[in-house]
Amino acid sequence: MAKLIGGIGTSHIPAIGGAIARGDQQTPYWKPFFDAFPPVQQWLGEQKPDVLVIFYNDHGLNFFLDKMPTFAIGAAPQYVNTDEGWGIPALEPLRGEVDLSWHLINTLIDKEFDVVTCQEMLVDHACSLPLKLLYPAGNYPVTVVPVCINTVQFPLPKASRCYALGKAVGEAIQRWGSDKKVAVMASGGLSHQLDGERAGFINKQFDLQFLQSMESNPEWATQFSVHELVEKTGTQGVELLMWLAMRGALSTAGSGVRKVQSSYHIPISNTATAVLALEARP
Ligand code: DHB
Ligand code: FE
Repeated sequence: MAKLIGGIGTSHIPAIGGAIARGDQQTPYWKPFFDAFPPVQQWLGEQKPDVLVIFYNDHGLNFFLDKMPTFAIGAAPQYVNTDEGWGIPALEPLRGEVDLSWHLINTLIDKEFDVVTCQEMLVDHACSLPLKLLYPAGNYPVTVVPVCINTVQFPLPKASRCYALGKAVGEAIQRWGSDKKVAVMASGGLSHQLDGERAGFINKQFDLQFLQSMESNPEWATQFSVHELVEKTGTQGVELLMWLAMRGALSTAGSGVRKVQSSYHIPISNTATAVLALEARP
């Protein structure tokens, strides 16, 4: 059976793609963000996962307001990134792990998570940039299964539901008939609001408590309704639902977690950024 080895969380922001394209990683503005990644890259180099299951939210590239699935899973051999209008270069396509995609889809639907299946799926900055942050040299040594969670158009799925989805994904990964190593990843958050009266809103106290909960009390944030999360973290801060799904998946593996890396930096653009890597203890 496949092995679930750990979980990673990272913020995503289109401006990160611009910084990479310009080689700005060591400038004073960007250094605190990019310096969080080498320990995670080293851990990945040692652990060598074969597959990443990526919880992310699309921002209008693949799904628009006319058709907005709550949960959607990619089942494609390749996921292409294209121009989203942010002025960042498109990144290399991601290779799909089709067999795991269908295993997850079949298992989730059997467990009454009625996901949308996508045999073609464009992936936006939320899915493409994290790969570039984890494997800066490109030529990614992993295949992926993208799991898209709606945070764009209300109603959004509840925090507890996202955690439960993650748990079902984690259990399914470990029942996948393969000897591959799998890691789960969350892309999004932490607190940020891009527009409206509270544009620029950041809640450091909540973010730090949330990050700590990922280590020691992973279901902590499931006590909050989506509206409470928006109030506490901003309209886009609700992307932390991805982190709950990732952590739900990891909760099914091993005997607890070991922290490999945890970093918090504010702000990049309008966003409080965080990077976290947790290893599943055997
Ligand atoms: C920003 C943050 C996001 O989560 C996103 O998807 C786009 C932009 C920002 O802070 O600029
Ligand atoms: Fe976003």
